[in-house]
Amino acid sequence: MNLLPSNTNLAASPYDSIMELTNPGPGTGGLRPRAHMDHGLPVLSLNGNWRFNYSQSLAAAPVGIEAETFDDGAWDTLPVPSSWNFHGHGAPAYTNVQFPFPLDPPHVPDANPVGDHRCLFDAGQEFLQGAVLRFDGLDNAGTVWLNGQLLGTTRGSKLSHEFEVTGIVRAVANVLVVRVAQFSASSFLEDQDAWWLPGIFRDVSLLAQPQASFRDVFVHAGYTAGGSGTLRVEIDPPLPDVVATIVGLGFSGVLEFAGTDHDEQGGETGVSATFDVGQVEPWSAESPILYELTLSTPLQTVRLLVGFRTITVEDAQIKLNGTPLLFRGVNRHEHNPDLGRAVPREQMRRELRLMKAHNINAIRTSHYPPHPVLLDLADELGFYVIDECDYETHGFEDGDWAGNPSQEPQYREALLDRMARTVERDKNHPSVIMWSLGNEAGKGENLRAMAQWTKERDPERLVHYEGDWACPYVDVYSRMYATPAEVELIGRQEEVPLPDPAQDEHRRNLPFILCEYVHAMGNGPGGLQEYQDLFDAHPRLQGGFVWEWIEHGIRQHTPDGEAFFAYGGDFGEQVHDGNFVIDGMVSADLEPRPGLLDYKKVVEPLGLAVSADWRELAVHNKYDFLDTAHLAWTWTVAGPEGKMAGGTLEVPVTAAGARAVVELSAEITRELAPERVLTISAVLAHESPWAPAGHEIAWTQQGIPAAPQPQVHTTSGAAGAVVEDGELHFGPATFSLSTGELSTFKSVPVNGPRLTLWRAPTDNDNGKDHALPGSPRTADTWVAAGLPLLQGRLQSMTYDGGELAVRVRYGVPVARQHVDVEYAWRTDGTLLELSAHLTPSEGWGQTWPRLGFDFELPGEFSQAAWTGHGPGQKYPDTGMAAQRGWFSASMEELQVPYVRPQENGARAGVSKLVLSTKPAGGQSVTFQSEDFAFTLQPYSRQVLTNANHTPDLVADGISHLTLDAAVQGIGTASCGPGVLPAYQLAPGPLSSTVVLG
Ligand code: GAL
Repeated sequence: MNLLPSNTNLAASPYDSIMELTNPGPGTGGLRPRAHMDHGLPVLSLNGNWRFNYSQSLAAAPVGIEAETFDDGAWDTLPVPSSWNFHGHGAPAYTNVQFPFPLDPPHVPDANPVGDHRCLFDAGQEFLQGAVLRFDGLDNAGTVWLNGQLLGTTRGSKLSHEFEVTGIVRAVANVLVVRVAQFSASSFLEDQDAWWLPGIFRDVSLLAQPQASFRDVFVHAGYTAGGSGTLRVEIDPPLPDVVATIVGLGFSGVLEFAGTDHDEQGGETGVSATFDVGQVEPWSAESPILYELTLSTPLQTVRLLVGFRTITVEDAQIKLNGTPLLFRGVNRHEHNPDLGRAVPREQMRRELRLMKAHNINAIRTSHYPPHPVLLDLADELGFYVIDECDYETHGFEDGDWAGNPSQEPQYREALLDRMARTVERDKNHPSVIMWSLGNEAGKGENLRAMAQWTKERDPERLVHYEGDWACPYVDVYSRMYATPAEVELIGRQEEVPLPDPAQDEHRRNLPFILCEYVHAMGNGPGGLQEYQDLFDAHPRLQGGFVWEWIEHGIRQHTPDGEAFFAYGGDFGEQVHDGNFVIDGMVSADLEPRPGLLDYKKVVEPLGLAVSADWRELAVHNKYDFLDTAHLAWTWTVAGPEGKMAGGTLEVPVTAAGARAVVELSAEITRELAPERVLTISAVLAHESPWAPAGHEIAWTQQGIPAAPQPQVHTTSGAAGAVVEDGELHFGPATFSLSTGELSTFKSVPVNGPRLTLWRAPTDNDNGKDHALPGSPRTADTWVAAGLPLLQGRLQSMTYDGGELAVRVRYGVPVARQHVDVEYAWRTDGTLLELSAHLTPSEGWGQTWPRLGFDFELPGEFSQAAWTGHGPGQKYPDTGMAAQRGWFSASMEELQVPYVRPQENGARAGVSKLVLSTKPAGGQSVTFQSEDFAFTLQPYSRQVLTNANHTPDLVADGISHLTLDAAVQGIGTASCGPGVLPAYQLAPGPLSSTVVLG
């Protein structure tokens, strides 16, 4: 029997003391952070296929892996970078606020997956004079060995970590070993609303870094009111004879250091004087002019793309180069449906091009610094970036933020380290105009310390943090999901005062942004225009950032190969937040959702309007800097038969912020006629880096496409009503005597109308209105009122020689409330006119989702052509992107494939709908009414209501048509305010007429 020394922790793993997973501090053994840049020396990418072993816990993980001689022959192969859950190891898990493990900081669960990575590489001679190993993103806690030697640990998943490997790296046969634990004490700092995705998910590189090279540069490029550029450079270490050159400006000179700075870790930085580099073109998101700056020594030439711009806060406004900005922003997470957080570079470029093409000019990198390449693209394509620290502790909110790391001294050093890693890495990007301390991390002294450090290190940018509404240490008053009513008060500087007058005074004079608003989950967001109108009206309101840009769907396949997007709970998670992770303006594979098209329209940088007589076009240039010289103008006149006329238009160049009225030519004005719509578009005159020439930026319309409504004249004998074979024959129609519904029209089986008050709840219908705390979910009130179970009872069917009157009472199980509908039918032998008069009883709730009539036609009636709004969907508070005109689409094209199926696809403002069996020709049925909405779906509403994923939507061979006389708005209550009063549908009487032909 062996006697153990007293106090031996029997539960310990030999790796506990090396990996230090419960250490709340920063990583160990690494180099101090510095800028990402082309440092002009050899770089070896270590990306590629590595050896990999997955263990469910540290206890189950192999020992001895760090030894060069360790035999990894039985291990798998894994691409690096990657999120290992996407390669058959473990499973992704999604939570929003809640931690999926006990809230017991700094401890981690025993069930803590471990991924062991090994990579064998040759470096070459050029790394032997000095080298650094860099990880750009490793989730969550890495322990790194090179050639058997421990280098240290990493903390801060979305931050870069570097290790000195001089003297350790060899020219050939290096063995790099990285053990990654999915959870550590630092997981409590990374509670972002996203999938938990462990892995080395960004690049790994070896960088040559000889003694006599410089390791860091901080470029300060400003723009003066006089139009000249200023340049100041900090270089670490302050090497002699560094030549600074900006070829494009004819600027070149040896850097003289006006002083040196020492950091806490003993580093020394030379700080140059500030140069005036003469007249420059300033950088802005609208005109992202970059100059190449080179910093050369005989050993190396560092290349940086520099944008001259100065950010200030004056008059409660954020100004760039003296001009106030308006953010048309989005929050961007990093996600790929097949790869997780390892986002390919090509995708990043596609995303940013897509944003630019939709008039988006700002990005908040929620809620961590992005892949470094993203900021290169933001500089180049032109975006204002709020660069956010990798920090969120939202799960502490439950329990009143007890133990929140923002206030716990044990986490202070880690938080300062994270902030420094954010700022140092990205400090040379002109696109970054604000540093954000993190997201939803409560309040506390550690946040103040992060802000103070940031201000000292980089006084030329602004500091942002939303979580402390008193704004004691930030430059911007920022909020999320505030109602339009509150935003308006803030715009007027009339917000509810803070208790402390000094704090209130400070906050009242800060600019205001919505760092998150209009939650783009499912069908929606509704109410975009209301916010934009406020931003336009009040200078203090400088715009907002939609939550969020991309959906985090994970592509999966059914057993028979149908692809669909999965969400929280689909991977067997015990604790999860369902489809709350599917709330983007683009799908996970970058297909624009209707909300993105609406956003493009609402934030378009031109206000255009054509007078009712088609004689004048009013232009308001809403760009902050650009005049309209980069635009070309087109006009089109359309009618029921399609495009009738069109051409280009001369519009004089209008300066940023200016307004002009342009007289339209007689060629256009003479086209004015009933059933004509004039559309004027401003398009790119030339190709840009993000869209081809001709890409539309803004548009306006004048004219109404309404189809004239047919008159049904009942002449005696045109059509009598006869009962034959158990059916009522009435002109071109037959009716069921048991339900009173139409059973055929023009010999086509047409069943209906049947009153419906239900829609498959949208994610917003399932939300709780933030504006009314304590209010129930709207969809629950509809279910409680029995709306999904509405059933009709035929009361009477009478024919008076001219009119067929059918009275139906619709009720719901259990309850007394009902709706009486009188359907009055008339016919001239060819057309069939229906007037429906609807009288609800007392006792219904506050709103109905819709007031519509269902029809069923054979599935072959799958082609729709309509006059109204299109081509996309439109609800009362959405669909700003929908134009007026004449449209056609197949039933399939009419659907929006929301990841969690829900109400979608309504076409609104319709005066005529033709359903046919073929795109052109074929059998058809026409519906005409003054103003209605229609939806056409290949499955029933019940199927749509019950579906959880797109493969649940199985067509039943029937064309399900609903004609809506009224529709409830959409709102954004999935996270935010609900449907504004003007867009709510209150139960009430209604009359409506439709003619079938
Ligand atoms: C915010 C949060 C985001 C996201 C959003 C809802 O509170 O900052 O990360 O969770 O709500 O989708």
